[in-house]
Amino acid sequence: MGSKGTFYITTPIYYPSDNLHIGHAYCSTAADSMARFKKMTGYDTYFLTGTDEHGQKIERKAKEKGVTPQEYVDHIVAGIKDLWKLMDIDYDDFIRTTDERHVQTVQKVFRQLYEQGDIYKSEYEGWYCTPCESFWTELQLKDGKCPDCGRPVEKAKEESYFFRMSKYQDWMIDYIREHPEFIQPQSRANEMIKNFLEPGLEDLCVSRTSIRWGIPVDFDPKHTVYVWVDALTNYISALGYGTDHDELYKKYWPANVHLVGKEIVRFHSIIWPIMLHAIGAPLPKQIFGHGWLVIDGKKMGKSVGNVVDPVILCNRYSSDAVRYFLMREMPFGSDGEFTLKSMLTRINADLANDLGNLVSRTVAMVEKYFDGCIPEAAETNEVDQELWQLALSTAGEVEKEVNAFQFSSALSEIWKLVGECNRYIDVTAPWILAKSENDRPRLATVLYTLSECVRRIAVMISFVMPRTPERIFAQLGVDDPELKTWDSLCDGEFRHLKCGTRVAKGEALFPRLDIQKELERDQPAETPQKPEKKNDKHSSAHAAPEFPAEIGIEDFGKVKLQVARVISCEKVEKSKKLLKLRLSLGKDGERQVVSGIAAWYSPEEMIGKQVVLVANLKPAKLAGIESQGMILCAASDDDSSLKLLSVEPGMEDGAVIG
Ligand code: MSP
Repeated sequence: MGSKGTFYITTPIYYPSDNLHIGHAYCSTAADSMARFKKMTGYDTYFLTGTDEHGQKIERKAKEKGVTPQEYVDHIVAGIKDLWKLMDIDYDDFIRTTDERHVQTVQKVFRQLYEQGDIYKSEYEGWYCTPCESFWTELQLKDGKCPDCGRPVEKAKEESYFFRMSKYQDWMIDYIREHPEFIQPQSRANEMIKNFLEPGLEDLCVSRTSIRWGIPVDFDPKHTVYVWVDALTNYISALGYGTDHDELYKKYWPANVHLVGKEIVRFHSIIWPIMLHAIGAPLPKQIFGHGWLVIDGKKMGKSVGNVVDPVILCNRYSSDAVRYFLMREMPFGSDGEFTLKSMLTRINADLANDLGNLVSRTVAMVEKYFDGCIPEAAETNEVDQELWQLALSTAGEVEKEVNAFQFSSALSEIWKLVGECNRYIDVTAPWILAKSENDRPRLATVLYTLSECVRRIAVMISFVMPRTPERIFAQLGVDDPELKTWDSLCDGEFRHLKCGTRVAKGEALFPRLDIQKELERDQPAETPQKPEKKNDKHSSAHAAPEFPAEIGIEDFGKVKLQVARVISCEKVEKSKKLLKLRLSLGKDGERQVVSGIAAWYSPEEMIGKQVVLVANLKPAKLAGIESQGMILCAASDDDSSLKLLSVEPGMEDGAVIG
């Protein structure tokens, strides 16, 4: 098969600020499915993903953990790559914004924009949202908070370089209007024009002097490049733009599609195109803004504390099942509610029942009635022909849907065929045909038809479920690579399986899950903490753990204990048990900790006390408030008495215990 052309697809580059959750995996699964589909249908495909490693957020996180930003990101990036491996995210390149190749391209682009007068030096005064790494004017704030995420913003006033975005405002509006395919779904294009372009584009602050963890402006190194300008450039730096090795850039740019979540469409469809236009590079063909995975209507995210861990889901239910659910459950442009129950229900209904039963019934009947050899189809009747026609037309329907990013509809087309096959078994009743020698030709046609349909289904699902097809092919006895290709679905001929192929019954593809039992297991979701829970004290004395008889020194050595001084303390509203404390760790900064000690200590008596803090404990939410560590107490068995741990007077705040 000759190449139909090139196809370059990207995911956003992820912040390595914490473990990624299933919402992040959603975006990568979609990009990976699309890339696999394009490869399979004859495109020379390039799929890029990576990590967005600079900025204040990372700088602060690393400081909290007591490591350098580079050490911090290296560790997290390794985990992200492991996750993509687990989920079969088969990228062609993984760009890190700390890669030297990337740094050079960003500096080059910045310099070019400066030299041609599109970037100029001035002073920035306004507001900055660190979690979103976004600048806001006073007017744009909502109740004094970030209009995107609702979190507090910080005042910023410093010498900065500015990008003359205003100059390109009219051009950008015209471009979006003249290229309706540029921003998808279309509603997002209207939103960009109405909310951001028509009210007037201001010049964008594109450097910071107060943030050190970033790419230095090479001609003025006390400035670092604004993280979004840095991050967006990844899409071309990965291709070698502006270097002597720009073969990939020449081959794959402009990108066919940047797949992004809806909240970052704004950066991709305004800042990025203007940057590209200004440096004289073509624009990506499309920005596709997908919806969010939400829980109880709220975007899944670390800040809400409602994240679901994809590693647990994949290990329990298989990555193919998780990928299937993500792509099947909701239309790609819209938000979708994630619940474990809906996922388990879908796995049982679509995978264990519909698909799993079809495969096992087909193979079992070939074994039973034809000694395990796929028979030759004899004459067909109307019922067979109807199924053959559906099988022949499904591939085209799937192609149409996938190309429009309608993964859910594409899978639903495939499952229509799965459903029709199951119905065909019921209607033709092979077990009755098997009773009469006269019906042998009819039985052969039915089982050939089913086997070939199963083969086709296996080929079609492979872009979303890369592992399952091989398991189906193994049962069907298919090893000819030609029979696993998309082309083998598209030549208008139904019969591809060779008669005589020996089938081999295997394990159930997806064992049926006991949904109730699964729901009762520990949940892969970090649900927001409810106040007033018995053990919401967040202190070791109340975790009631079962301790191992012994641990090695290497385990103990993982716990970082530090002396901390309480600098402020208040009761948590609506909770009888919780106090919110601000702790000083001396040169290691400050922490906020929520502790369930209100019944034993008043806020007043806590202030000034030195306590012992577990400093490297993963932050958790208590009564919706982030607790960055835990202070240690001893408690009596019946909880009637509780005493804080402290150290002898005279020790400096932040001192490490051990
Ligand atoms: N680093 C920026 C992107 C820079 S691209 C030049 C960023 N990173 S992120 O890690 O916060 O998000 C990466 C992607 O994950 C975004 O497209 C975002 O929309 C997506 N998702 C994060 N949470 C999500 C859900 N709950 N649901 C679906 N997608 C989600 O933004």
